Amino acid sequence: MSKVLICGIDGYLGWTLALHLSSRGHEVIGLDNFERRKNVEEVGSWSATPISDINERLKSAKSRHGYEISFAEGSTLDYGFLSKVMGKSHPDVVVHLAEQPSAPFSMADREHAFYTQQNNVLGTLNLLFAMKEYAPKSHLVKLGTMGEYGTPNIAIPEGFFEVEYRGRKDWMPFPRQPGSFYHLTKVHDSANVMFACKVWGLSSTDIMQGVVYGTRTDDIDDDSLLTRFDFDEAFGTAINRYCAQAVIGYPLTPYGSGRQKRAFIALVDSMQCLTLAVENPPKQGEYRVFNQIDEVYGVYELAEQVKRAGRPLGLDVGIQALADPRFESQEHFYEVDHDNLRKLGFRPTHTLEDELDIMLRDLLRFKDRIDAKRDAIAPRTTWKDGKSKPGRRMV
Ligand SMILES: NC(=O)c1ccc[n+]([C@@H]2O[C@H](COP(=O)([O-])OP(=O)(O)OC[C@H]3O[C@@H](n4cnc5c(N)ncnc54)[C@H](O)[C@@H]3O)[C@@H](O)[C@H]2O)c1
Repeated sequence: MSKVLICGIDGYLGWTLALHLSSRGHEVIGLDNFERRKNVEEVGSWSATPISDINERLKSAKSRHGYEISFAEGSTLDYGFLSKVMGKSHPDVVVHLAEQPSAPFSMADREHAFYTQQNNVLGTLNLLFAMKEYAPKSHLVKLGTMGEYGTPNIAIPEGFFEVEYRGRKDWMPFPRQPGSFYHLTKVHDSANVMFACKVWGLSSTDIMQGVVYGTRTDDIDDDSLLTRFDFDEAFGTAINRYCAQAVIGYPLTPYGSGRQKRAFIALVDSMQCLTLAVENPPKQGEYRVFNQIDEVYGVYELAEQVKRAGRPLGLDVGIQALADPRFESQEHFYEVDHDNLRKLGFRPTHTLEDELDIMLRDLLRFKDRIDAKRDAIAPRTTWKDGKSKPGRRMV
């Protein structure tokens, strides 16, 4: 069993992973600065699921399941704090989730782009230095995103591919064409992590994570253990927004042509993948890349699936496409390799259909919370002009 430090333990994936790894007997330590909670509040929203504060979460994990999870409050930007945590715990594995993950939030204006790049890129740089100093043999599981690659007109390999140019061949990082200042932070992180592995001999799994959807796992067997679920324009992914919209009878709103394709994975299966990465470390000094996805859907097709899943629950909503606030290809080729996790034993356990039913049933219990923040769903941030003035909406 390993000692695992989860940076970003209070977040959507972090809290779920803390419970899951504890259930498998790993010792879990977490850190967080709670900025996700503050940032969602700043955009006028909250988690649809009423999440407890960290102390309540830890207490409940102990009383319901016997999990002893330790926690330290602080930021990856504070090197003194990181040194203390790493120096005291000497983890075998560091799972790094502690970043600002919203593309629209990063595109709102200069301040939000600056905040996102500083938080993500420099936080990761600090973490790399802290690992070098205090835990050089530990394995960094770093969350990147499928959005690092963009939507090239050729199949997307897992991080690297063979290139032949002017008669010579090389094995090179696949070109990254990200679509926001947030996605750019992940590209910069990948370059820094790969470099640290090369020069300092650290080992890392850089996970190109597809969009994760779902409200629960087996460990979340009580409301005191719920993980967050956001549905506002900045922090809610398309699938989350559609589910929240369906629950309050608000038309589902794909952007643009709706033919933009993205890669998805259910929360339970994302936990399975992250656990496989944690439990099967790379060789010392190795930098490896996993594309962590299960299925690919177009965003309009996804709205149709949510609409269909809502019918048996009495949810009857229309679909109303909106002008696309983002700068993205409206129609494109999308094929993604995802063999590395399968080679380690990953087998998807949940289909979109199963999971949508669970999500909609869960969200129906919190319908009033979604309704109270319904104004936060419509897009207000455009890639061209940043954040609109309060009150001005694109719809
Ligand atoms: N959820 C998805 O669908 C998805 C998809 C692709 C990639 N990812 C990536 O996975 C990671 C986790 O995603 P999530 O959905 O759980 O996000 P999240 O925002 O819910 O979790 C991140 C946590 O890290 C904390 N944090 C942020 N900056 C910090 C800092 N400097 N110091 C300490 N704590 C800090 C936040 O308060 C939050 O609790 C992110 O890096 C995200 O970019 C997520």
